[in-house]
Amino acid sequence: ILEEARAQIGVCAQKESLDALRIKYLGRKGVVQDLMGRIPTLSAEERRSFGAGVNELKKNLEALFTEKETGLAAAAAGAAKDFVDITLPGKTPLSGRLHLLSQVEGEICGAFSRLGFRVFKGPEAETEFHNFEALNIPLDHPSRDAFDTFYLRPFDVSRSGFSGREKKLLRSHTSPAQIRALKTCPPPMAVVVPGRVYRPDAVDASHSFMFHQVEGIAVDKGIRFSDLKGVLIAFAKEMFGAETRMRFRPSFFPFTEPSAEVDISCFACKGQGCSVCKKSGWLEILGCGMVHPHVFKSAGLDEKKWRGFAFGMGVERVAMLKYGVNDIRLFFENDIRFLEQF
Ligand code: PHE
Repeated sequence: ILEEARAQIGVCAQKESLDALRIKYLGRKGVVQDLMGRIPTLSAEERRSFGAGVNELKKNLEALFTEKETGLAAAAAGAAKDFVDITLPGKTPLSGRLHLLSQVEGEICGAFSRLGFRVFKGPEAETEFHNFEALNIPLDHPSRDAFDTFYLRPFDVSRSGFSGREKKLLRSHTSPAQIRALKTCPPPMAVVVPGRVYRPDAVDASHSFMFHQVEGIAVDKGIRFSDLKGVLIAFAKEMFGAETRMRFRPSFFPFTEPSAEVDISCFACKGQGCSVCKKSGWLEILGCGMVHPHVFKSAGLDEKKWRGFAFGMGVERVAMLKYGVNDIRLFFENDIRFLEQF
């Protein structure tokens, strides 16, 4: 009986079939009980050895069942651990994206590149010459004051063999790249220059000591102010919508003549006056003008032969207007809850 049971238990793969076997052998109407039932019919000496045998059998059977049960439980636990539920929804990996400022810089440069402009880059650590003199910004101009510009520690000019023109600073605008672009790409040329600029302003909702600009310059024979207007209007319509109107206000920059500041009609209220445009209906977006003869001279070009226009705009300002961002600091805090909205 024990050997037969051992064989049957051995091939058992499921708890249910093991339970059935247990009932067959150890149950109330099982094999062992049946043998016990025969004991009263036996003679006194037979009873003793028979009874001992049945007890032995019962103990052995119980041991076999317990051992098998433990084995089955362990196998089931192992299977559960390796089990993959392919019906569960997957975990979506977080995908990265460009920072809003990079997106807007790309939109601006993209719009101008479709108008024929190439992208040009200039250094952030710029010479004082390129940032000021070459752009016709006089020595006593307030923006040259140490409080308006980050000067880099001057090195010993006399020993290095460089002239005083090599004194460096963090560029306060992207306009010095006009000079570099004119030298690198002889006219006729048209480039936009995206990049960082630095001014030691106290940080608040609308000021940052570092921000981004996109500069533009186009030079050819016979370029006129109307070319500047046409290019900027095409840009504004692409950037802010086809109904956008533009307003040129006379202004002054040392490196353009004549100069203008440009407003676009408020896209939020269509020029009716709202909180975005402080009820004026207009939003200032850039400065521009016709390239000053002094700038051509600085770049080694014949100022009688060439005409050009230039413009410069703040990327943060465009992004704040277009995407309704009300604090410039949000761009630089890198709070993921802000960044992932764009
Ligand atoms: N550089 C000027 C500024 O930072 C903007 C500008 C660029 C104006 C080119 C005219 C022409 O304010």
